[in-house]
Amino acid sequence: MKIAFSEISVPSTGTLIVGVMADGALTPSAKDVDERMSGALARAVAASVRFNGKKNTTLLLNAPAGLDLARVLLIGLGKAGEIDKLQLQALGGRVVGGLNKMGETEASLAIDAPDGCPLSLEEMVGEIAFGAHLAAYRFDKYRTKQKEEDKPTLETLTLMSANTGAAEAAAAPRQRVGDGVYLSRNLVSEPSNVKYPATIVEDIEALSAIGIDVELLHEDRMRELGMGAILGVGQGSRRESYIAIMRWNGAENQNEQPIAFVGKGVTFDTGGISIKPSGGMEEMKYDMAGAGAVIGLMKALAGRKARANVVGVVGLVENMPDGNAQRPGDVVTTMSGQTIEVINTDAEGRLVLSDALWYTQKTFKPKFMVDLATLTGAIIVALGTYQAGLFSNNDELAERLTAAGKASGEELWRLPLGPRYDKDINSEIADMKNVGKGREAGSVTAAQLLERFVEETPWAHLDIAGMAWMKRGDDPIVPKGASGFGVRLLDKLVADYYES
Ligand code: BES
Ligand code: MN
Ligand code: ZN
Repeated sequence: MKIAFSEISVPSTGTLIVGVMADGALTPSAKDVDERMSGALARAVAASVRFNGKKNTTLLLNAPAGLDLARVLLIGLGKAGEIDKLQLQALGGRVVGGLNKMGETEASLAIDAPDGCPLSLEEMVGEIAFGAHLAAYRFDKYRTKQKEEDKPTLETLTLMSANTGAAEAAAAPRQRVGDGVYLSRNLVSEPSNVKYPATIVEDIEALSAIGIDVELLHEDRMRELGMGAILGVGQGSRRESYIAIMRWNGAENQNEQPIAFVGKGVTFDTGGISIKPSGGMEEMKYDMAGAGAVIGLMKALAGRKARANVVGVVGLVENMPDGNAQRPGDVVTTMSGQTIEVINTDAEGRLVLSDALWYTQKTFKPKFMVDLATLTGAIIVALGTYQAGLFSNNDELAERLTAAGKASGEELWRLPLGPRYDKDINSEIADMKNVGKGREAGSVTAAQLLERFVEETPWAHLDIAGMAWMKRGDDPIVPKGASGFGVRLLDKLVADYYES
């Protein structure tokens, strides 16, 4: 689907989409179109019995006689003073979903707001375009026999406005964030025979074309650095493990201390020797969604030329059972020098992150670190699939993340850390063990292990196990499948608090 921008006119084909306010009035640009249609839209609104312009309501009409276009879709925007960005993203998403269901190929949209709307016309167009882009995502590359009626039909969505140039300019950075979400969704959607550490590394290296510096740590280098935890996870796999580092220096001062994002990239999690049950194991292809989010975020930030210095670090590794795999009871020595008793080889994400976090903190001395990981099934028990778990050693960072979550629609709920949970991971034989007390507070004890690899740096951990894969399909801008969770959230965090 193509998103185009144009002046206001009466479209000559397809569906015309116009906004209606809660008082039944057409929005200014819709009025503009209506004048060229001799008031047919206003008459249609007046004649519709139930439709009243309330937020999120719609009415589909046949186009007034004498015009070339086929249909008119009226969309209620509610009260001007209450219009917000998430509403407009959802609107853009619903338009795309609805038109594809209808089999429409062309649509033109005239939506803005009268005085009193907190957003400018350009911002409104940008958010609608963003939602439309996110909703149009598909991952069809492995379908060779898709039926015509299952294919999306919408070819072009044209956003009409009084100032085409300004609208397009406002929409461009939002589209670049959308591109980051697409990359993340693509990486997570791919099966693990296609995307494994070495092939994900190729996708990361391709980001150098948009100004991202890429550095790789191969297994030899990781061994030199003493990264026994991540290497232990990868040792049962035929595939090489990597840590990949992406740097975007967009701040005015290129030497300014960076901010850092760290992702769990387990490209497939069988559980290792503590093997998972076979039912549903295929889902563990998305156990690299934390890394996918970090990679997508870097693309988004570089794409929109964010004025910030940002480091992205991902630990890429496959967790397999094998004659060379690590065993329950093995003790590994991390880069930090601390030792971990591996009670359960399926609690591997925290092992990967222990070395990745330590490396990030020591190498880049970031202002803060945020890690993202599909870390525990327990977070799904606690929060379901509506919010990700947030753990932090720093209230300001936690508050900013929570606010960015609300503003982006990718929400977080903070859970506790503390010394009583921390002692639950003490080991009899090593500095710590990689599981807590049975099923109790499983997400917290996982986060406690991570915290042992963070010194003074402000840090937050996002457990996204319930968010990485959309099963419900009830969010207009997140189609079923890989969600790209984290890209919009962290782009918002950077935009609102960390750009010069
Ligand atoms: N990758 C899983 C967590 C997960 C579960 C992600 C469901 C997405 C959906 C993680 O590596 C894992 O296996 N965690 C174990 C930890 C346990 C062994 C302490 C779990 O949650 O059961
Ligand atoms: Mn696991
Ligand atoms: Zn895992």
